[in-house]
This record gives sequence, structure tokens and C-alpha cells, in this order.
Amino acid sequence: MLSAMSEKPALLFVCLGNICRSPLAEGAMRAAAQKAGLEIETDSCGTAAYHVGNPPDPRSIETAARYGTDISDLRGRQLSDDDFTRFTHIFAMDHENLRNILKRAPHDTSAQICLLMDVVEGREGNAIADPYYGGDEGFEASWADVSAAAKALVAQLS
Ligand code: 4NP
Repeated sequence: MLSAMSEKPALLFVCLGNICRSPLAEGAMRAAAQKAGLEIETDSCGTAAYHVGNPPDPRSIETAARYGTDISDLRGRQLSDDDFTRFTHIFAMDHENLRNILKRAPHDTSAQICLLMDVVEGREGNAIADPYYGGDEGFEASWADVSAAAKALVAQLS
């Protein structure tokens, strides 16, 4: 459950490469917020710089498109110091991402930082598995996870 907020929510979704899971999370959240008429800011990034400037993995683009969400405009970027004060919430896709985010958090960090699945009742502490090296079913599973989280976030932020 998120803490109460007075400012406009600004949500940052973070994975390793910013081409598979976090663009899916950003897409699912953008779509869910738009549908609910909820005004928020969203972005995604990676803890690593492997795919800076690149579009999402074609399998992520295809999966989101199948559910009516276009994420082909997104481009990879790496997590930066500014993110810790620009965003009200930073959501990590897995435990390694969370460790790396917390390790590099500046002293003036104001964002609340947790695993994305912590916002879903009954899924607290769960990771979203990295689908990069697997088959299409991994992307389908990632979409199901980020969609459940987006639905929970809309309910908690509305
Ligand atoms: P993501 O998946 O963190 O969900 O974007 C990955 C993308 C790329 C790599 C690893 C994971 N890579 O090693 O290039």
C-alpha cells in the first residue's frame, strides 16, 4: 500500500536494461491511468546502460500491442541521481534492481522505493522474472504482472 500524497504522483519503473519489463510496466500504467482519468507522470529506466537510446525489445512491443498499448515510442535510458527527487515513487521489477537502486540512492532522496509487486495484495515481495533470455511466454507473464500492478496502483492513487 502506498503512503498518502499531496503532490501529483510521478511513477518511475526500473528494470535492468529498460527494454523488456519496465517499458511494459510504463505502458500498462499509462493505459490504466488514462482509462481511469487519473493524472500522473510515468517513466521507465534501467539500472544498466546497455540499451540507452534503444526502443523496447520487439517482443515487449508486440505483447503490449496485443493488449492495445503502443510502447514503440519509448527509448532506453539509465537511472540518474535526479530521478530520486523528480519521482514520488520508484518501482523495481526484481530484487537485484531494488538492491542496485537503494545502493545508489542520494542522501536527498524523496521518492518511495519498493518492488513493483509490493503494491499487489498477496504478491508482496515477488519479483517480475526477467523474460529477456526466454521465450514469448515470459513476456506474456511480465505483461500479466505489470497489468496487475497498474490496476492496484490506479486503485490506490484514485
Ligand atoms: P529488462 O531485460 O531488464 O527487463 O529490460 C533485460 C534486457 C537486456 C538485458 C538483460 C535483461 N541484457 O543483458 O542486455
